[in-house]
Amino acid sequence: MKALVLAGGSGTRLRPLSHAIPKQLIPVAGKPVLVHCLENIAAIGVTEVGIIVGDRGDEMRAVLGDGSALGLRITYIRQLAPLGLAHCVQLAQDFLGDDDFVMYLGDNILAGDGISGIAAEFAEYRPAAHILLTKVANPREYGVAELDGHGRVVALAEKPAQPRSDLALTGVYFFTRAIHQAVRAISPSARGELEITDAIAWLLADGQRIRATQFHGYWKDTGKIDDLLECHRVLMGHRRGDVRGSVDAVSLVSGDVVVEPGAQIIESIVTGPAVIGAGSVVRGSRIGPYTALGSGCTLVDAGIEHSIVLDGVSVQNVRGIYGSLIGREAAVCSAVDDGHRRLVIGDHSTVEVA
Ligand code: DAU
Repeated sequence: MKALVLAGGSGTRLRPLSHAIPKQLIPVAGKPVLVHCLENIAAIGVTEVGIIVGDRGDEMRAVLGDGSALGLRITYIRQLAPLGLAHCVQLAQDFLGDDDFVMYLGDNILAGDGISGIAAEFAEYRPAAHILLTKVANPREYGVAELDGHGRVVALAEKPAQPRSDLALTGVYFFTRAIHQAVRAISPSARGELEITDAIAWLLADGQRIRATQFHGYWKDTGKIDDLLECHRVLMGHRRGDVRGSVDAVSLVSGDVVVEPGAQIIESIVTGPAVIGAGSVVRGSRIGPYTALGSGCTLVDAGIEHSIVLDGVSVQNVRGIYGSLIGREAAVCSAVDDGHRRLVIGDHSTVEVA
C-alpha cells in the first residue's frame, strides 16, 4: 500500500499566516501539521508516500526532505493549480500504479485512535473506497455521507446546502485502483473542482462496494485559525516533557515542558504543557500552559499562554497574551508611553487591543 498526501491548495482561510508559510507547515504542538499526518501514515506501515504540492513545494521539501527522518520515501508531485482532490489522484496515477493507497489531506489532524484499525479493515475487505466519518455540528462545510439502517453508504454530497446527515467525511480515505476510473469520469463541481466526494459517489452509482467507519478519535481540519488553536491545545496535552536546554536555579518549570537544545530559561515560570524551541531565550517571563515557542525566539518580561509562536519571534514587556498565533520573525513590544500605539501589520491580520 502507498500513501498520497495532499498539500497543495491556497490556504486562504489561514491568512495572513498562509502568506508566509503554507498551512500544512504551521506547527501544532511544536510539529508541522504535515509531520503529524506523515507520522500517522508511518504508523500503519506505509513507506512510499507521494505528496501533492502547489507552488510552495520547495518549502515542503526543505522541511521534509526525502522523508528518511520519518522512515518514509517521499515523491513530490507538482499540481499547477488547485483543481480539486480528485484532480490530485489523476496527477498521481503514475506514482500510484495499481496499488491500494491511503489518501490523507495534509491539513487534517487525527489523534487518539489513529488509523491502524481502519487500515486493517480495509486490507481485509478491500472495498473500492473506505471512508472515515465523524459527526459534526456544521455538515454544510464538509463532504457528507448518508447511511442506511445497516451502516451502508447510500448517498454522498460535497458541502451540501441541505445536508441529509451530520456525518462528515474526514480527510482520510482508503482506495483500490478502482478510484482511477472514477476520477476520470466525473466533471468539475459548482466551485470548479474535481471533488473526491463525487468520485466516490460515482463508484457507488457504479455498484462498487463503499465501506464507512465512524472515527471516534480526535479529528480536526486545521483550515481555520480557531480550529488550529483548538487542535494545538488538544495535541499539547499529549506531549511529554523533555528538558535539553538550560533552566537557571530561580526559574520554575512544572508539568510537561520540552526545552529544546540551546534554549535558555532565566528567572521565569514555565507551566506545561509547553515547548520552548531550540535556541530561544525566555527571561523574566511567564510561559504556558498550552504554548509552543518556535526556535530562536526572545521573550523578555513577557506573559503568554494557549498560543502558537513561530520561529524568531520577539516579545518584550507585554503580558497577558492569550489564544494567539504569532508569525515568524514578528515583534511584539509595549507602546512608548505617549498615548500612541504604533502598528506595522501585514495584510489580512487581526489585532485585538484592550
Ligand atoms: O477536511 C475534510 C474535508 O476536506 C472533507 O469533508 C471534504 O469532503 C473535502 O472536500 C475536503 O474539503 P476542504 O474544502 O476542507 O478541502 P481543502 O480545499 O481545504 O483541501 C484539503 C487539502 O488538500 C489541503 O491540504 C489542500 C489540499 N489540496 C486541495 C485542493 C483543492 C490540494 O493539494 N490540491 C487541490 O486541488
